[in-house]
Amino acid sequence: MADIDLVIVHFDDAVSVFYGRYLHRGALMYDGFVDGNDNLICGVHNWDYKLEIGISEYNNSEVLEKFSTWIEGGDVLVDEDEVRAWGNDNPQPFNRDAYLGL
Ligand code: FES
Repeated sequence: MADIDLVIVHFDDAVSVFYGRYLHRGALMYDGFVDGNDNLICGVHNWDYKLEIGISEYNNSEVLEKFSTWIEGGDVLVDEDEVRAWGNDNPQPFNRDAYLGL
C-alpha cells in the first residue's frame, strides 16, 4: 500500500476516504468529527472540510484530498494507484514508523 495516512469517514449512508492528516500542522484525523453541515472538523483547531469534496468551507483554498472509494463484499476499498500517485506528488514529512511501532 502507498505510504500515506488515510482516514475512513462513515457518515449517514456514505463512506469516504481522505488523506489522513489535517492540512494545518499535520495532525492525524482520528479525533475529527462531522458537524451538522456535513463538514469534517479537525479536533485540534476546528478546521473544516466538506465531506462531499474535501474543500474547506472557511477557506476554499484548503482542500483535503478525497480518494475514489467503493464497497465490495462489505469491505471499504480505495484506489491504491490514486493514493500512490497523490503520495508521489505530495512527499510526506512524517515518520510513520514511530507511531506504527516499526
Ligand atoms: S491541526 Fe487541525 S486545525 Fe490545526
